[in-house]
Amino acid sequence: MTDRIPSLKTMLTLSDAAATEALARALAPGLGAGDLVALVGGLGVGKSVFARALIGSRLAALGRAESVPSPSYTLVQTYDLGDVELWHADLYRLGALDEIGELGLEEAFAGAITVVEWADRLGPALPPRRLTLALDFEERGEARRAELTAEGGGWDWLPAALAAVGAP
Ligand SMILES: Nc1ncnc2c1ncn2[C@@H]1O[C@H](COP(=O)(O)OP(=O)(O)OP(=O)(O)O)[C@@H](O)[C@H]1O
Ligand SMILES: [Mg+2]
Repeated sequence: MTDRIPSLKTMLTLSDAAATEALARALAPGLGAGDLVALVGGLGVGKSVFARALIGSRLAALGRAESVPSPSYTLVQTYDLGDVELWHADLYRLGALDEIGELGLEEAFAGAITVVEWADRLGPALPPRRLTLALDFEERGEARRAELTAEGGGWDWLPAALAAVGAP
């Protein structure tokens, strides 16, 4: 008997910002209530490019062409997608971990779609069931190395979504 949590790891090269946006649009429709997309990687690596494309895609699917403001200062921006809320958080400026409770993020993890930039700042509050996109710079040029890890089960739709953008 095994109680191992199933996990799936995929390495990708994102040749430019458009490729990062295409990945975000491919993953967007699969996300539902209780799903966390944890974005990690250094300054300017493309976390916000990914988040904006993902949110824009969900809004566009509802016929909405709203701007997607940066949550750098507010830390959280919320979107009502009708049947589910989407929370976009940027925790770069997170002070103490107890701010997470004040922001209401724990409730969002349970009931909303959450897209969290600098998710590693959650430390022990980072939910174990998550889709983590870790971005890093290639030596030169615009390309980014991406490692996508799905943990905790319920990500059965992911391989087909990745195949649709030509990922292995
Ligand atoms: N392959 C790529 N993927 C994503 N962004 C890219 C890529 N190549 C170039 N870029 C550019 O890199 C920048 C990424 O900026 P972005 O704000 O998304 O980074 P970030 O990870 O959110 O940084 P920060 O933590 O400082 O907010 C954008 O200007 C984007 O056009
Ligand atoms: Mg950002």
